[in-house]
Amino acid sequence: MIDPGTKSVADRCRGGDNAYTEPYRLYNADVFEYEMDSPMTLYGAIPFMQAHRKGSTVGVFWLNAAETWIDVVKTKNTANPLALGLKGHTDTQTHWISESGLLDVFVFLGPTPQDLTRQYGELTGYTAMPQSFAIAYHQCRWNYVTDEDVKDVDRRFDKFNIPYDVIWLDIEYTHEKKYFTWDPLTFVNPDKMQKQLAKRERKLVAIIDPHIKNTDNYPVIDELKRKDLAVKNKDGNQYEGWCWPGSSMWIDCFNPAAIDWWKGLFKYDKFKGTASNTFIWNDMNEPSVFNGPETTMPKDNLHHGNWEHRDVHNINGMTFHNATYQAITERKKGELRRPFVLTRAFYSGSQRSAAMWTGDNLAEWAHLEASIPMVLNQGISGFPFAGADVGGFFGNPSKELLTRWYQAGIYYPFFRGHAHIDTRRREPYIPGSPYTEIITQALRLRYQLLPAWYTAFHEASTTGAPIIRPNFYIHPEDENGFAVDDQLYIGSTGLLAKPVTKEGAESVSVYIADNQPYYDYFDYTTYSGAGHHTVPAPLEKIPLLMQGGHIIPRRDRPRRSSGLMKFDPFTLVVVLDKDGNASGTLYLDDGETFDYQQGAYIHRRFDFDSKREILTSANLDTSPPSSKTQKYIKSMEKVRVEKIIIVGAPKAWKGKESVVVMEEGQKESKRRKKAELEYHPAEGKKAAWAVVRSPKVGIGRGWRVDFGDKGVGHDHHGHEH
Ligand code: GLC
Repeated sequence: MIDPGTKSVADRCRGGDNAYTEPYRLYNADVFEYEMDSPMTLYGAIPFMQAHRKGSTVGVFWLNAAETWIDVVKTKNTANPLALGLKGHTDTQTHWISESGLLDVFVFLGPTPQDLTRQYGELTGYTAMPQSFAIAYHQCRWNYVTDEDVKDVDRRFDKFNIPYDVIWLDIEYTHEKKYFTWDPLTFVNPDKMQKQLAKRERKLVAIIDPHIKNTDNYPVIDELKRKDLAVKNKDGNQYEGWCWPGSSMWIDCFNPAAIDWWKGLFKYDKFKGTASNTFIWNDMNEPSVFNGPETTMPKDNLHHGNWEHRDVHNINGMTFHNATYQAITERKKGELRRPFVLTRAFYSGSQRSAAMWTGDNLAEWAHLEASIPMVLNQGISGFPFAGADVGGFFGNPSKELLTRWYQAGIYYPFFRGHAHIDTRRREPYIPGSPYTEIITQALRLRYQLLPAWYTAFHEASTTGAPIIRPNFYIHPEDENGFAVDDQLYIGSTGLLAKPVTKEGAESVSVYIADNQPYYDYFDYTTYSGAGHHTVPAPLEKIPLLMQGGHIIPRRDRPRRSSGLMKFDPFTLVVVLDKDGNASGTLYLDDGETFDYQQGAYIHRRFDFDSKREILTSANLDTSPPSSKTQKYIKSMEKVRVEKIIIVGAPKAWKGKESVVVMEEGQKESKRRKKAELEYHPAEGKKAAWAVVRSPKVGIGRGWRVDFGDKGVGHDHHGHEH
């Protein structure tokens, strides 16, 4: 508490170092060409505030859906007014103001950042486990103009050997902006288009917005009116406003009957031309109304149950993407696939059914730079499946900016290239040499690490942990690193990335918080010691380090889509810590259905023990194996580890040519076998490393690899395990 006797008005201020002079505003809105670094409102709201210091993390969640303002005031507090600020500390007070609505306030006591995200997740829900394609690369623009155009883009990705998983259709695919229809002149044969995509396991995402065109000869608007499912104006009549189609009405997803109707519209025989590999993009759901106050609905509009719009505005978007999520789940009886929905508007809880993106950014370096703290912030706010438009939405990025944006975009949990209708084409094959090759390398890196990303998503879906994590989240005791928000860790993998966000950069300064060795991902150059380190970053180099102590799962074979990697073998990268130990996890499932909820998954823990010089794979699944578990493990039986790389390998391994591998569940005669070991001594700053070729152990099995000379299967005391 602040003692009022000891502070002067001058010491009480908004603004100052790292603070805004205006309060934050939460009122979901479609903001045109949004400003950088401003507390003004944007498309989504998560009224969750955290305070962190060494030894303590606490949070406040202000559950209210009306327009909300948060005033943050910092007060320099000195016990002795003559001390001139010396030995004083800063108190931060926040003042929350909501216009109306219902209010519940929750206080979370942490005390660690991990506790806080778990507690908040327990209340508002954890991230839905996405299909595996959804965490690969998405290619979008406003617009791919015909079905032939889509097929052509698809072919060009293949021609240039560039991986991608999903191609997107913006509003122009519709017949005159009538959702659930196709433009008959430009999208003549959507089925054929989908079939071409499906050949390489690729998917289609089509946009469906909440405004329904108010026109003749359009059954969707007729039904909306007839069934009385639209939002009403203050007089209780169906509200009419303007959006992309011109005159429109808005589905009121506060009404359960509207959700039921919405579900019907997505059935394959209703929304013809869609297939099981079609997914949905929900945009403009703040809602955006071009002729409304602040580009949204009047506050005195009425929703189902006579709720005034003002009371529920900030959850409007969530009601809509939730309805779409349900609709996709129920397109066909028995087709139980995980939906994918992208939303622009969101609220606390949106993580249970959607991914989000940061809306209409600009093709400018400042927007690339801002995207990192924005996406990190989504992560610690419980909605980690987030990304920014790669390349920048408005404007034409230079080839360098585009390349750097891809190199940064591979770290967005939701990774999509997108561009405004007035921009030039900029698919990765467009910029040409060397940019196309460099972007392709970045995409390959994302694909190579998909097993690590998927494992991070699984962690988010079971513990509420962010997928990309800021420094303070991993090192909550490191005060020097609290303000670092321009670099990130990927899940619990120890991968530390510092995206280049400055034009002409040749290097970056990476902040290291602890005393573990960190190794360059590509050439194992070692960086040790807390503090800043200069890491080379010419255009073709992605600054990515591996913190000692982790085991990172990868899939190294380049493919055209993630679906084609399903049965590919694994590489394990064992990154030793300063004591020579490492551990890591891998989560795997079919990447598609809900069977994982009945045990159809593989969850392994890998440990390297420096004393015994043994690498083990142990089962993390403690539940009794169900028939689904057995079936899934059987389906993955042939999937093996093809390579084990040990970074920071001990000197003593020099001259060693093989290791002994033991695998459970094999016949006695086959249980012990040798695998080749190749040792590479340290060179200058580059750490020693070793590689085990073809250990051929199953990814879903228990096994161990013995690097020592202590005799197969015997520990120090000579006991067989
Ligand atoms: C909005 C979206 C943008 C989309 C456009 C047309 O501006 O934010 O991503 O391309 O509408 O649908």
